[in-house]
Amino acid sequence: MWYLCRMRTVILYYSKTGNTKKYAEDIAAALKCDVMPLNKFKAKMIPDYDTIVFGSRVIGTKIQKADDFLAMYDAMEGKNIIMFAVGMSLVSKEARLNLISNNILDLYHIRFYQLRGSFDYEKLGMVEKLLMSNSLRMIANDPNATVDQKMLLNIKENPLQCYDDVGVNKIISVVRKLATEMPEGDA
Ligand SMILES: Cc1cc2nc3c(=O)[nH]c(=O)nc-3n(C[C@H](O)[C@H](O)[C@H](O)COP(=O)(O)O)c2cc1C
Repeated sequence: MWYLCRMRTVILYYSKTGNTKKYAEDIAAALKCDVMPLNKFKAKMIPDYDTIVFGSRVIGTKIQKADDFLAMYDAMEGKNIIMFAVGMSLVSKEARLNLISNNILDLYHIRFYQLRGSFDYEKLGMVEKLLMSNSLRMIANDPNATVDQKMLLNIKENPLQCYDDVGVNKIISVVRKLATEMPEGDA
């Protein structure tokens, strides 16, 4: 579609076990746009794009590398900025609001989406295995643990396999809609 060619979009990502990378690549394939890891993207490349999307993994309620991405916020003035966070939590309004407040995203003018990803304990490095085991011990001993948290207690033995088509399609359609809203001549 011609307006997708006019609209210059890049999907940036930070991923360790591949879920966020897969989402970023799928979104880029649908939009026929550039995709790259965050560390390959330099501030001098910002003028090349109208829409900049950043996806990253959630670890302990923090969106990893969000600070690095948002360090470029002022330089991205006038761009459409979209972020998505990939974690094992169920997608809900409450979980999304928690991510916004834990990562202080309300300071910025960005569109934000939460996608559910997969989780496989065996794919983790040693440090993350330790962190995960500690978190699970804390949940097991916490009388106030939520139902969502308790569902994680057997995650080591039962890997979570999840692909959020609805979330992916939402991001794709939002980027397309932004392209149709671009003023004439802003190619
Ligand atoms: C130590 C650790 C802590 C995690 N904490 C959270 C969390 O607080 N919320 C969440 O939704 N997912 C959490 N996850 C799950 C990851 O976000 C999930 O597996 C994600 O898909 C990883 O992304 P990646 O495959 O792109 O690296 C955690 C995973 C690990 C290893």
